[in-house]
Amino acid sequence: MQNTAETGPDAPIDTTPLLDDPYTALAALREAGPVHRITGTDGQPAWLVTRYDDVRSALADPRLSLDKRHATPGNYRGFSLPPALDANLLNMDPPDHTRIRRLVVKAFTPGRVEALRGPVQRIADELLDAMAAKGRAELVADYAGPLPITVICDLLGIPAEDRRNFLAWSDALITPDPGRPQAMKEAIGAMLEFYTALIAAKRAEPGDDLLSDLIAVRDDAAGTTDADRLGEDELTSLAFLILFAGYENTVQLIGNAVLALLDHPEQLTALRRNPAEVTPAVEEFLRYDGPAALAIRRFPVEDMEIGGVRIPAGESVLLSLASANRDPHRFPAPDRLDPARDLSGHLALGHGIHYCLGAPLARMEAEIAIGALISRFPGLRLDVPRDEVRHRRTIRARGLISLPVAW
Ligand code: HEM
Repeated sequence: MQNTAETGPDAPIDTTPLLDDPYTALAALREAGPVHRITGTDGQPAWLVTRYDDVRSALADPRLSLDKRHATPGNYRGFSLPPALDANLLNMDPPDHTRIRRLVVKAFTPGRVEALRGPVQRIADELLDAMAAKGRAELVADYAGPLPITVICDLLGIPAEDRRNFLAWSDALITPDPGRPQAMKEAIGAMLEFYTALIAAKRAEPGDDLLSDLIAVRDDAAGTTDADRLGEDELTSLAFLILFAGYENTVQLIGNAVLALLDHPEQLTALRRNPAEVTPAVEEFLRYDGPAALAIRRFPVEDMEIGGVRIPAGESVLLSLASANRDPHRFPAPDRLDPARDLSGHLALGHGIHYCLGAPLARMEAEIAIGALISRFPGLRLDVPRDEVRHRRTIRARGLISLPVAW
């Protein structure tokens, strides 16, 4: 872990410690230097940025493009998604990003999110009823997973019969199995088919949902060149991004938060006594063990410096949100779970023009999910020895494979 960009970034450092014990490994890297050469999630070399100030300014730096066309050819081999899934906000820069984000913001109103509060509470209560009947549960599969999936399907208007195990799809993308290289391709093919069919069905029979609104935006402006233009690939890609972003991180946030509480029984007791504290608690869960460990990879459009390190145009830059949120220069005693700390400016939901579009929904879901769980099962505890709790093995995302609990 000594091979820092400051001392000469020859070979990428070994990423195994980042998989085994990420926060310890990130603390060592942050201490050793602001930027390190690592092997990225696509197996290609990348620059990992570790310190809060650098990560925050890089997130909002227009010289760092999210558009893969700015990658040096051969230097980046990320997901190869078909255009109908790839033309999404997280691969775009202004002005396309500005145009599409404005359209989504218009359709994804605060009123739409607020209207979901009752349904989210109801879904949480139903899942807890089913768990109560069994006496023990696997929290990811029985609660943290189904809750956000149901919510995002309700928001988009995905009919009950079309809902499926979306988690298997995101697993195939986020933690591809090297022994089954075709699994990712199959998942991508299945997703493409799913979104195309879904949009055709909604177009034929629109409902009172976000996706129908976005289709109307697309169809009203079809053939025009005005600012409301939304291409067909952009529409399917948007549906894909909202569904994927809408459950993937939220599932992990709920799981990580429950584990953090089980690891800190005094905080669990305090929160149960004072349910109103769930709002700052969720902010601290986001900072302490947020699901998006890395921001979307970015490519410098020109040679630039980050933390005094020169990064050539077109190389992959990975901004470690997990490391920034544990930087002691920004969050004193960062490894302590402390909802009373000053949490302003944590980067778990990004920063700048790509700041998470679903942040209000994510916060609301987590608050309701955690509040309902701990009030329903006061005796909540782990149902396996602590060292058997496993995380997914990826530096990109931070989440549990499973979380067996009893009460
Ligand atoms: C705990 C849950 C969530 C976390 C931690 C999270 C995190 C993030 C982060 C870090 C970004 C910025 C990525 C970057 O700049 O590289 C982002 C963007 C985004 N998120 Fe979330 N997110 C969550 C939930 C949601 C939900 C529930 C939705 C939708 C319903 C959503 C939709 C989006 C979209 C559409 C973007 C792209 C925005 C843009 O590029 O302008 N997210 N999210």
